[in-house]
Amino acid sequence: MNLANRNLVTIDDLSNGEIEALFSLADEMANSPNEQSGLCQGKIMASLFFEPSTRTRLSFEAGMLRLGGRVISAVDIGASSLAKGESIADMAKVLGSYADIIVIRHPWEGAARVVADYAGVPVINAGDGSHEHPTQTLCDFYTIRKERQTVKGLRIALWGDLKHGRTVHSLIYALARFGATILFCPGPGLEMPEHVLRRLSTEYKGELQRCRDLNQEPERRLFPIDAIYMTPSSPHQLAMLPDISIRVELKAGVDALYVTRLQKERQAPTVEEQELKKGYPVVDKKLLKGKEFKKTLVMHPLPRVDELTHELDADPRSMYFKQAAYGMPVRMALLALLLGAKEVTIPEEEDSFVRKIDYPVYKRDSGVKCPNRNCVSNQETEVRYIKPEFKIVSREPLTLRCVYCDHELHPRYVASSEWHQRKLESKKYHSADSHFAWKINPENLIIFASEKEAQAQQFKPSSYARQ
Ligand code: CP
Repeated sequence: MNLANRNLVTIDDLSNGEIEALFSLADEMANSPNEQSGLCQGKIMASLFFEPSTRTRLSFEAGMLRLGGRVISAVDIGASSLAKGESIADMAKVLGSYADIIVIRHPWEGAARVVADYAGVPVINAGDGSHEHPTQTLCDFYTIRKERQTVKGLRIALWGDLKHGRTVHSLIYALARFGATILFCPGPGLEMPEHVLRRLSTEYKGELQRCRDLNQEPERRLFPIDAIYMTPSSPHQLAMLPDISIRVELKAGVDALYVTRLQKERQAPTVEEQELKKGYPVVDKKLLKGKEFKKTLVMHPLPRVDELTHELDADPRSMYFKQAAYGMPVRMALLALLLGAKEVTIPEEEDSFVRKIDYPVYKRDSGVKCPNRNCVSNQETEVRYIKPEFKIVSREPLTLRCVYCDHELHPRYVASSEWHQRKLESKKYHSADSHFAWKINPENLIIFASEKEAQAQQFKPSSYARQ
C-alpha cells in the first residue's frame, strides 16, 4: 500500500495496520541505515521547530539526510515572517512550493492541522502545544513492541504531568486502540483532562474507573493512581467489584511506566512552580523496588528534569535512551512512506477496540468559539480564515469538540435555521438542555455562546429558553 501524500497530524491519521507496516519498514531502516541513501534523493524536507527540541528535530533531519534527501529549516519564530503577522496558512502555502514534506512543531494547539490544510504536501506534526505528538507515540510503541512483542493486554502506567503533556495525549488513544490497560498516575492538579477521559470512555470499548479511594492506603501513596482504563481483553472486569479488580490488575504488575516531566512552560502564569514541584511524583530506585515494577519497562519521552533519577540509567528496565535512538529508524520509515519512496503491505487488523462513531460537524461563521485560549482558532485572530469548527459529540448534554485541539464546550443556547426561515416571528432560541432543542437536526443547528449573542442576531427567547 502507498501512504504517499498523507499527513500525520494526530495519531489517528494512521490505522493500526499502517502502524504495524511502518514498524516493519523501521526494522529494515534500523538493520541497514547506511543503505537507504537512494530512497529520497532530490527530495527536500522543511524542518520548522518553533519550540525547543533536540530529539524530534535532529532525528527527523538526520533521518532525511540518511535517506539521501536534503533539509531546509527554521527554528526561531521571531526570525520568520510569522513575526511580521503572516498567517500560518500563507506560510504553509509558500513552503509547500519549496519543500516536498513539512515537519512542524508549534506552540499553538491545532497549528499542524492548519499547515496540513494549506500546504499541499505531506505535513508531520512534531508537537502542537499540549495537544499531540504522534511521532513520539510511534517511537514509544516501537520500543514496547521490541521489548514485549505486543501492546495488547499490557498494563501501562502514565506518570506525571498528564494535563499538559502532549506525548501522553497521543499515546493514550493508541494504547486504547491496541488493547492496553492504562493506569493514570498524575502529579497533584495535573490529572488527564476531562475531555480526554470522556473520549476514552465513549470511543473505545474498555471501561474507565476513577479510583481515588486507593490513594488512601499507605502502600499506594508512592504510586499516585487516579483512574484506570481497563481494556475489554483484560481477564478482570470492573463491572462487579471495581476496587478488587483494580487491585488484581496491579498485583499482576505494571508492564511499562511512562514517566513525563512537569511541563513548566505550559502552566498558567498564576501557578507557583515550587508548589507544583513539591508534590510531583518521582520515579527512583525506591519506587521500583515495589513488586509491581519487577519487570516494568521504565519509559520517558525525554527531556527529563528531576522526575526520573539518574541512578536508574544503568538499570536494565530503563528504556528511555533506546526510545530516543529508535526515533531515527521510525522517522526514516515515516518520511519514506509519506514521500512515496516505499510501499508497504498492511497486515490485517485484529479485533478492534474502537467504537466507530461518525459525528456531525458544526461550522458556522458566527457563534461559539473554542474555549482553549491556546487553540490556533483563537490565536490566529488577525486573519479571519479559520472558522471555528466542531464535532457534535453529544446532544444530551450538548457537547462540541474543537476539530483543531479537541477541547470541549457545552453551549447553553441553540436555534434552528429551518424553523425561522422566512418567518421572523418564529426566530426563537431555546435552552440547549430542552427536549425541543434535542429535536433540531444537526444541519439546522445554530449555536450561541450566550443569550446576548442570540438576541443580537434578532432571536427571541422561546418558552424553552430557560430550563
Ligand atoms: N521527546 C521529544 O519530543 O524530545 P524533544 O523535545 O527533544 O524533541
